[in-house]
Parts: sequence; structure tokens; C-alpha cells
Amino acid sequence: MIGGTHFIGPYVIRYLVFAGHTVKVFHRGQTKADLPTTVTYLQGNRQDIHQYQSQIEAFAPDVILDMIPYTAADAQTVLNTITGTCSRIVAISSQDVYRARDVIWGLETDIVDSTPLTESSPLRSQLYPYQNAPQRPLGVPSNYDKILVERTYLNAADMAVTLLRLPMVYGPGDPLHRFYAYLHRMDSKRPVIVLDARLAQWQSSYGYVENIDWGIALAVMQNPESESTTSHRIYNLSELHPLSEKERLNLLAQSANWPGQILAAMPDQLPPDRLIPFNFQQDWTTDSSLIRQELGYQEPVSITTALERTLHWERQNPPTDIQNSASAMVLLDPEIEDRVVAAFSH
Ligand SMILES: NC(=O)c1ccc[n+]([C@@H]2O[C@H](COP(=O)([O-])OP(=O)(O)OC[C@H]3O[C@@H](n4cnc5c(N)ncnc54)[C@H](OP(=O)(O)O)[C@@H]3O)[C@@H](O)[C@H]2O)c1
Repeated sequence: MIGGTHFIGPYVIRYLVFAGHTVKVFHRGQTKADLPTTVTYLQGNRQDIHQYQSQIEAFAPDVILDMIPYTAADAQTVLNTITGTCSRIVAISSQDVYRARDVIWGLETDIVDSTPLTESSPLRSQLYPYQNAPQRPLGVPSNYDKILVERTYLNAADMAVTLLRLPMVYGPGDPLHRFYAYLHRMDSKRPVIVLDARLAQWQSSYGYVENIDWGIALAVMQNPESESTTSHRIYNLSELHPLSEKERLNLLAQSANWPGQILAAMPDQLPPDRLIPFNFQQDWTTDSSLIRQELGYQEPVSITTALERTLHWERQNPPTDIQNSASAMVLLDPEIEDRVVAAFSH
């Protein structure tokens, strides 16, 4: 397993070890997780993974799970290292490969792709989605592109490849603290949270980390001899029933015991400079029925429990700066929110 010790990786490792598999983790040794004692490690930078070829050969893995491929070079270096040693790769991709992502960001106009997106929905035509972004999520490199990662792995000769397109993942350990800013408003006992009405009805796919990780573990443990296994598979991995932002916020409110109200305000009721510059006519939901049919994937954790575990962790581990919470960007400053609410009641 390349990576595995930060947010999404640890539960995958626990599932695999619990199922009786032997796991070796390749990472730099900068990020530590509480993992089963049977896990062994190879310490190094993935850019130099070829230097560890003999150790990987000695371990003789049945499957390589690449948790953190961000660039074509990341994938190619792994392929150069393991060809002849291992002929199955599972690699983590993202739903940001779909063209719908660029429709939302306003980079594609005059189109709205139908949702939920299936594995054959159109992909982005423009590469390097975060190249010009003022802040790149999770510090990914400027040449990050999962489309190129996917292409590089799929083009590898004599390699069975499974790609998993992940949604927005939340849960204990989430470095983006996706729901913290919402929770903070609720725990501050504010009576109303104002959402841009276009965002309130916008649907997007999320996944709870323990559920997503069960899907990843299933893909790794897939029996290569089984009938449903062909050499290349691509699976969306996401919740069965996507929610709108307002529906999700209502569930968060229940879990947080917040009795307040969520107010959907039309754009003309909001300060123009606080309008979110996204095209919310494009939903960002993915259809995960293929992995459910072929690998028997089902979420082991209910959404209620998932939210409870997440909120518990967020309260114990708040971000150092609330602006580091992904939900902060869609909330109004409290004083502005108060004015919008006051204007509503007149
Ligand atoms: N979070 C989301 O909402 C979301 C959505 C879609 C897709 N994804 C995908 O999920 C994957 C990452 O999740 P995660 O960070 O939680 O995974 P993780 O596998 O739990 O943690 C990242 C791992 O990568 C290792 N690492 C980082 N840079 C390295 C390098 N140069 N060489 C070797 N090891 C390195 C880290 O250990 P060291 O620091 O010790 O090296 C750590 O073990 C990514 O592929 C991401 O694109 C995430």
C-alpha cells in the first residue's frame, strides 16, 4: 500500500488485516496512524520508489494499492517499479475527473451533464484542475490530475487495474474538516444558518470514511478469478442516496441537537460580493450502483452513526483556524447573516 497512514488509509488497512491479509505500507514516515501491529513498513518517498524494488519483490504483493497517485509520473514510477513483480493495481481516483466538475467551476458553459454521473459520463476536457487555484486542496501539486493517473494505469500492459473514484470524504481525521464550520455555528447556538438557495438545493456526493474504506478494501480483496473480474474496472464509490446541501445540514442539525432554522436565501437577498461563484445548476452526484452490483458493496455504517462519529471527532479536534474548514467558504460572516435574517423578517 502506497500511503495509508493519514485520513482515508487507516480503516482500509484495518479491514484488510482483520480479513487476514498481510499489509506493507510504503510512506515517508512523516504521518503516523494507530495501525495493527502486524503491519510492516517501507520508509521512503514515492518519487524514489524504484530504489525499493528489491524489497517490494521480496514482499511479493498480490496487489498494490496506490492511495495517493496525483500525477501521471506518480503512476508511471510505480508501474516501472512493480512490473514483473505484481500484476494487480488498485488506485484511488476522484469524482473531479468528470466534466461536471468544470461545469460547476464555470469552466464549461452551455452544458449541464445529467446526474447521477456514471463511470462513462464525460470527463473534463481541460487538464490540471487546480493549476491556477489560489489554494490547492490537501497541498496537491500543480500538475495534479487524476485523469492522467487513470490513463497511465489503464494503459499499462499486463496489469489488472481497478480505479475507485471517490466523492467528498468526511469523518474522523478529515484534514478538510468539511462540516466543522457548520457545527461551530450550531454549537454557538445561533438560531439561523443562512444558505444561498442555489447551494441549499444543490446535490453532491459524499462518503463517510469507514464506508468508503470498506469499498476500497473490497476492491483490493476482489478475487481475480471471480467472474465479475475483468482486467480493468472503474467504480464510483459514494452514498446510495445523495442529499442536497440543505438535507445534509438538517441531518447534521439533528445529530448536533441544534434546534435552529436553515434559511435558503435567494441570490438577490444576499450581498453580491458573498455570492458563491459556482454553477449550482450542475449537481455533482455519482451513481455507485456498479460497485454495489459487482463487488456487493454496502455501507457498513449508517449515515446517522457516521455523522455522530464525525461531529464527536470535530468537537474534540477543531481546526486551528475555522477558515480551514471546507464549509466555512459557504457561510456568511455572522454579522452579515444577522442582517440578512433581519431583512427576511421585515
Ligand atoms: N479527502 C477527500 O475528500 C478525497 C476526495 C477524493 C479523493 N481523495 C483521494 O484520497 C487519497 C488520499 O487520502 P488520504 O491523504 O487520506 O490518504 P492516506 O493514504 O490515509 O494518507 C496519505 C499517505 O500518503 C503518504 N505520503 C504522502 N506523500 C508521500 C510521498 N511523497 N511518498 C510516500 N508517501 C507519501 C503519507 O505518509 P507520510 O506523510 O508519512 O509520507 C500517508 O501515509 C488521495 O488519492 C486523494 O486524491 C480524497
